[in-house]
Amino acid sequence: METWNTILVQQEGQAAIVTINRSAKLNALNGETLEELSRVLSALEKDESVRGIILTGAGQKAFVAGADIGEFEGIRVAEAKQMAHYGHTHVMDRIQNFEKPVIAAVNGFALGGGLELAMACHIRIASDSARFGLPEVSLGIIPGYGGTQRLPQLVGRGKALEMIMTGEMIGAADALSWGLVNRVVPMGELIETCLQLLTTIFTRPKQAIAYAIKAIQAGLEDPKTGQQTEIDLFGESFGTADSREGIKAFLERRKPNF
Ligand code: COA
Repeated sequence: METWNTILVQQEGQAAIVTINRSAKLNALNGETLEELSRVLSALEKDESVRGIILTGAGQKAFVAGADIGEFEGIRVAEAKQMAHYGHTHVMDRIQNFEKPVIAAVNGFALGGGLELAMACHIRIASDSARFGLPEVSLGIIPGYGGTQRLPQLVGRGKALEMIMTGEMIGAADALSWGLVNRVVPMGELIETCLQLLTTIFTRPKQAIAYAIKAIQAGLEDPKTGQQTEIDLFGESFGTADSREGIKAFLERRKPNF
């Protein structure tokens, strides 16, 4: 596989572990990292040997401590809009709509663009040392990579406004009880837990997984058309060899051979 300046990609069985690798800057997302992430996603999308992704940060301190504030100085309104648009379309939306499962392994600070990156993933597993926040208002700006959209979906409007207006961080226990993360585990078990979850998902047929991701996302984007997307994809799923095998195997009381 290609090598990257700010990202490491390793394969563990059918899972790719993608690590943001700028630990000296707490893995902050600069332009190069976003661009590399976008290219890594394209490569992994096509790679038939990869069935799912774990996204994490290098070191023990940070998942990603935000967009790189060093690149904010002096930028103008039009450039800032362009920056946000690039992040949304080339990285965050692509992760959200990725046809293979993407799990964020949150190993420390997930702030600003880092929390936005974790929220774009399908599932979030956190270490007990993880901390979460959208501190943009403390810089006089607001979240720009989906934070105002995805945080209310996960924690509700009131808690989202609390986090965004105060800019304060919450710990892993609150993140779990608020619904921001799926599970909290000790740091030493973080990657293993994500791999185990993917291993279970990989026992299910990949087309069904892709349809499930698409239908759920469609409803979140537009509840009026989401139901129709579900109806269509439910129907399409009956056209796959995997569904014929899955249903037959159940009726014959044996394990399916997908
Ligand atoms: N952008 C650019 N650099 C960042 C960064 C970011 N978002 N977050 C951390 N860094 C850099 C620091 O500038 C420092 O670099 P230096 O050693 O060259 O000076 C290095 O990472 C280590 O961070 P430091 O602040 O010294 O660590 P800390 O333990 O004192 O504090 C945080 C950790 C996460 C609380 C603090 O780094 C922070 O508040 N970061 C910014 C978070 C933020 O506002 N993100 C949203 C951006 S929109």
